[in-house]
Amino acid sequence: MSGPPSTDPNVFRRLMGRWPTGVAIVTTRDGITDYGLTVNGLLSVSLHPPSLLVSLGDDADSSPAVAKSRIFVANFLSAQQRSTSERFALSLASEEKFRDLPLHRGVTGAAILDESLGALECRVLSEFQVSDHHLFVGEVVAQELGADAPPLVFHRSRYTQL
Ligand SMILES: Cc1cc2nc3c(=O)[nH]c(=O)nc-3n(C[C@H](O)[C@H](O)[C@H](O)COP(=O)(O)O)c2cc1C
Repeated sequence: MSGPPSTDPNVFRRLMGRWPTGVAIVTTRDGITDYGLTVNGLLSVSLHPPSLLVSLGDDADSSPAVAKSRIFVANFLSAQQRSTSERFALSLASEEKFRDLPLHRGVTGAAILDESLGALECRVLSEFQVSDHHLFVGEVVAQELGADAPPLVFHRSRYTQL
């Protein structure tokens, strides 16, 4: 912990890798097209009203889709959903991502993944740009408790579980 102050992005990446997180798939729906991506940049913001923040990279196709639709769903993944997480972390066409995936729809119309731990449906309250990411704060308009199962965890750039 001595020496000159470091802002090296590689050190930052390694250090953030020591911070274990859950994994979610954020979905949205623009007209008739579903979008979704794997995220761990997610933060509970407030309880009254319930709100949360998601951070989407500018290169993610889902980011302009959320900006346009003004809604998103955060689906919290169980350890059983690792392959779904891997699929949604690839830059695939939307039909490929959602192919044969069991899902249903709530009040926002965006996809709620059937096998998740639960889902928070949100309406975008505010958004802002920070360097190459777009941050969306959503107010929860509906919530669903799903499977009471072990969560999928991401730590040191790898999937793991508790
Ligand atoms: C564990 C994990 C967490 C991720 N977290 C984020 C995140 O918080 N925000 C983000 O924009 N991308 C994140 N990604 C990368 C996206 O899932 C990936 O770029 C995806 O291809 C974007 O899909 P899209 O371009 O179809 O929207 C993460 C990937 C993994 C494997």
